[in-house]
This record gives sequence, structure tokens and C-alpha cells, in this order.
Amino acid sequence: MRDEECVAFLQWALPRLDLAWPGFRKVRKQVCKRLARRLRCLGLADLEAYRAWLATDPQEWRVLDGLCRITISRFFRDRGCFEVLRDLVLPEIARRATVEHRPARIWSAGCAAGEEPYTVRILWDLEVSRAFPDASLSLVATDLDETLIERARIACYPAGALRELPQEFVARAFTARDGYRCLRERHKAGVAFLRQDFRVAAPEGRFDLILCRNLAFTYFAPALQLDALERIDSALAPNGFLVIGAHERLPATAKGSQPVGGNRSVLVRGAMPDAARLTRRLGGGRLGKIAREGKMTQRGVHAFDGALQDANIWLKAIMERLGTEDAHVGMMALRGALHALRDRVGPENAAHLGAQLPTLVRGIYYEAWQPQRTPTKERHKDAFLQLVVRNVPPGLDFNAEAAVRALFDVLWERIDPGEINKLIRMFPHELRELWPAIARIEAEEEEAEKAQRGEA
Ligand SMILES: C[S@@+](CC[C@H](N)C(=O)[O-])C[C@H]1O[C@@H](n2cnc3c(N)ncnc32)[C@H](O)[C@@H]1O
Repeated sequence: MRDEECVAFLQWALPRLDLAWPGFRKVRKQVCKRLARRLRCLGLADLEAYRAWLATDPQEWRVLDGLCRITISRFFRDRGCFEVLRDLVLPEIARRATVEHRPARIWSAGCAAGEEPYTVRILWDLEVSRAFPDASLSLVATDLDETLIERARIACYPAGALRELPQEFVARAFTARDGYRCLRERHKAGVAFLRQDFRVAAPEGRFDLILCRNLAFTYFAPALQLDALERIDSALAPNGFLVIGAHERLPATAKGSQPVGGNRSVLVRGAMPDAARLTRRLGGGRLGKIAREGKMTQRGVHAFDGALQDANIWLKAIMERLGTEDAHVGMMALRGALHALRDRVGPENAAHLGAQLPTLVRGIYYEAWQPQRTPTKERHKDAFLQLVVRNVPPGLDFNAEAAVRALFDVLWERIDPGEINKLIRMFPHELRELWPAIARIEAEEEEAEKAQRGEA
């Protein structure tokens, strides 16, 4: 089956299933393969014949709906969001639950084979519960796919599903069995899996946190996205938290969201100014640190300036990727890599990127900028890394390549995807390799599609 034929078919069929073609653009190959298999199974020659088949057999639309389900997931996928959950959101809902003498309640909608809800469970068990020993957690996870739900209940995974999960958690939460990693029973407890269609139903009760990532706000048609948001809002407790995918946005008309911890996919939903006040009160890296050290008291949560909090979170994300506890090294790595990027992309692009950085990070970014001396024109990795080295104090114990990779990973998670794609496409191939693989693939696919459409 040719790609163009499959694309034309999907552009025709997806809206009829209340799904949105743009969400499928990058993952269409998976769906096209399934379609080819379905045609073989029905003995049909091509997609024209399949359209005719759909016209005569309304039940086939349900089969097609199943073929269009994207099931990719991983533990700790888009780590930035789980870092904010671990440091800010889970401690806050544990606090609420403790004060109100009830379990904390979380819903993972579109949970695949359990990677997402179990990641939350592991963070809760191994980190949050140390600071809140009296708080219990009830987690409900729903998915439409019965096979995935079965796999979630078994909870044994190939190594690839765990590749983003920090080694410390892999070692503590899993045991090895027949080439698979199986989750320990204690982390499976308290996670209830239900087969449920998110388009028409939600689990009962109110939730402190709902994760709806890489489902409604990527694959659903606009009207269905609004329904989905309504369903989420009615299931959320007041000032509850919502997590969406790293590359997703709520519908443009959605009101009442504030990002938490400078991460645009972790939101607190609620009436202003309560929600805004709450996000300010959630104090950046410090809260997480206190929580993890088990020293948190209900009155020990200080109000932090939002800008300081955002900068802290960026710094911490860099330090974690570098595996250093030394904030000076983290700061120098952030500064050196930001300056090298800024100077390599030239004044106009540098300004676009600068506009998206949190306030204090932007301050560091613009330090000693001499736009008239840019763009620098390095084409090779070594030369580009030299730029980074030149931007940090001599004798500092740090690895320039690791610093750049850490920064690019954090940028990819936190900056508008269109902006990231543009930056990657400006880089010669040898330098592109410094971006996370998935970011490169996305940018290169977009580049190929633009070329196909005859755009620059
Ligand atoms: C791309 S995966 C995302 C998994 C996980 N949330 C993540 O971000 O890693 C989408 C999941 O949503 C499920 N799904 C698709 N349509 C659904 C629906 N209408 N109701 C419930 N789950 C659905 C799929 O079976 C799949 O497991």
C-alpha cells in the first residue's frame, strides 16, 4: 500500500471516527501496516475496496476504530513531567489527603500496559510516602484495549519499556524474569485497571490528579477534545491537577489552567486566582528536596517567587541529567550550552528561543550576548563543543557533550515543539545528533513533509 493512498484514506476515515488526522501524521505507518493486514484478511485488493466494504458493513467501523489505536508508552516517558509530579504535585496531593484523612486519588486515562500509572505508583512508594507515611494512594487506570489491560495486570515488561526510568527505580521496583522486568507485588497493589472508553465514560468519584497523555489531545477531533476536557473537569477535585502529553495543548477555548513547576504539560485546573496562588505556593526544587529528605511539615512549605522556582526546576533537570549534585557545575553547564546554542543559531532565532525561556534562565541566556558576532558557523561536533567549553570557567570538571545533550533534552521537553523543530532543522547533520533521537525524527519528518508540499 502506497503512503499517499493510506494518507488519503486516513484523511477521509479519521474524521468519521471523530479522530483527528494531524495527530496521526507521525504515527501513520503503524496504522497503515494494520490496514494492509486487514485488507489481506478480508481478501480486498485496495483501500477503495475497503471504503466500499465500510459502506456495506457498519460493524467494520468498529474494527477500523481499533486499528487506529496508538499504543506506544514507556515508564517515566517525558521525564520532565514526572519530575514535577515527584517534586511538587504528588507531595501536594499527599498533603491534602493527609489533612482530609482520605486516600489520595489518581486516574490514568489511556494507561496502555500500565507504564504510566505504575510510574506514578513507584514514585509514590519510593519517594513521596517517605515524607507522608500516613497518606495512602488509590490509583485507577483505564484503557479501551483489553489486551493491554491484561498485560498491565501481569506487569512484566521488555527492557525497552524501562529505558527512561532511572536505574535506581528499576533496581528497586522490578525483578528480572525470563528476559523481562516484572514489577514487585508491593507496587502493583492499589492500582485498579478497568476497560473503559474515555469518549463516553469516566471512573466514579473525584480525583486529585488525572493523567490524560497522548490520547484525547492528540488523536481526538476538536469537538471530542472539548467533551474530553469536560469529562476531566467533572472528575477532578477542586484545584485538581491534570497532566497532558509533552507535545499536547488543551483546546484553545479551555480556561482555568496554570502550569506547575514551569512544565507546560502539568496543569492545575481551577478558578483563578486560587489556581495561580497554588502554583506559586508549590515551591520548586526545594519542596521536592525537603519532601525526599522526609523533613516536610505542613507549615514548612515556603512561598517562592515563581521565577526563582522555574529557574530552580530547570537547573535541577540539568543536574539530574548530568548526574551531578553540584549546583555550580549544573549552572555552568546550563550557561555554557545555552550560550553555544544562542550563538550558533544567529540573532533572530536566538531571540525567538529567548522569548520562550523562563525569566531567570533568559537572564543567563542573554548574558554577554554580542549578536553582531553571530551566527557562529560550526559544522562539526567538536567545534561546537569547543564553543561550550569557551563559555565556562577554565578547570571546571564537566563534560561539554553531556551538558549540551542535557540542555537539548530539557528544551525538547519544555519548549514549543514548532520552535524545537525549527532549531534542529537549522543544525547540520553532525550537530543534530546532539538532540534526543525522538526530537530529530520529529523534525526530520516535518522537514520531509514540508519538502513534499513544496514549502521551504
Ligand atoms: C499513545 S498511548 C498513551 C499511553 C500513556 N498515556 C502514555 O502517554 O505513555 C494511548 C492509549 O490510549 C488508549 N486509547 C485509545 N483510545 C481510547 C479510548 N477511546 N478510551 C480509552 N483508552 C483509549 C490506547 O489503547 C493506548 O493504550
